[in-house]
Amino acid sequence: MPVNPHLILRSVELALNARDAPAFISAVAEANSLIKFLKTQSRIPSMRLHAVNHTTGIPKAVLFRVLEESYQRSVAPEASRLQKTGPDPAFAYGELSLPLLYDIIQQAQLTHRSIFLDLGSGVGNVVAQASLQTGCTSYGIEINRFSASVAQVHQRVFEERCALWGVQSGPVELECGDITKSTRLKELLIEADVIFVNNERFGPALNQTLVQMFSSLKEKALVITLQPLGMSVHCTFTDRDIIKENIIPFCITKHTFHPGDVTWTYKEQNCFFYVHRVNRREHSRARCRQKISTILQTTRWPV
Ligand SMILES: C[S@@+](CC[C@H](N)C(=O)[O-])C[C@H]1O[C@@H](n2cnc3c(N)ncnc32)[C@H](O)[C@@H]1O
Repeated sequence: MPVNPHLILRSVELALNARDAPAFISAVAEANSLIKFLKTQSRIPSMRLHAVNHTTGIPKAVLFRVLEESYQRSVAPEASRLQKTGPDPAFAYGELSLPLLYDIIQQAQLTHRSIFLDLGSGVGNVVAQASLQTGCTSYGIEINRFSASVAQVHQRVFEERCALWGVQSGPVELECGDITKSTRLKELLIEADVIFVNNERFGPALNQTLVQMFSSLKEKALVITLQPLGMSVHCTFTDRDIIKENIIPFCITKHTFHPGDVTWTYKEQNCFFYVHRVNRREHSRARCRQKISTILQTTRWPV
């Protein structure tokens, strides 16, 4: 394709400055066909992007670019409708920034062999990022029909952008449904390596149901949330906690992030996310310790 790219760029600039719409459209079309040619037929190797090797990782700039392009084309036009949610705060829409999610995904040590779940997946931004960043298999479930329909469009555009950039994401599955009722989710929970729940606005009843559902998780699986799910096996606890089953079989760590990294808060102070690692052995030890201490406290010792 014997065209000079500088000339095409100049025509775009000229049309833009002259506010000449037909000239601008034709210059952009020419630029696009040059890019297509370079990507598919060029003999210059650096012009051809290859499928990402997930053992070395996709370059961060390419990852963010693909995600941003997909988001702008599918989710951004629906932003105002997405923000209009009903009276239940659990259905409130909100997102985490790309860099924050990048760090969370890194911390979770996902690989192309991992299974990642996003419970309350909104427009599917987290599953797309996890699968492109690491090659993992992702599944997202969303109850809000409108968000779930935007997620479907987002997923289609995301696949197109990945193909265009020559990068490959791990498989992504989306379901429109209720976390507490999905049979597909029940199947996947048994195998899952990492579960993400943006439960900032979930009420105590939904969080408690999640804890019960997580009893089927495999040992060492991670649950990452924005609100802690209960009391860690490493916390000090009382009889009441044991009776009320407040102690969950997780070791929990707390991590700080900047409030600017989430869309729903403009708080000045830092925000937190919590990483829960399933640790049943430590959980049964903690219960044993608690039983012994109860026996010691209630036994009447001879004086
Ligand atoms: C704050 S948004 C999080 C979106 C996305 N995970 C993220 O972090 O960018 C929480 C989502 O959970 C969804 N949700 C709330 N309760 C749910 C339920 N029982 N089943 C499925 N989704 C639910 C809401 O509709 C909302 O879209």
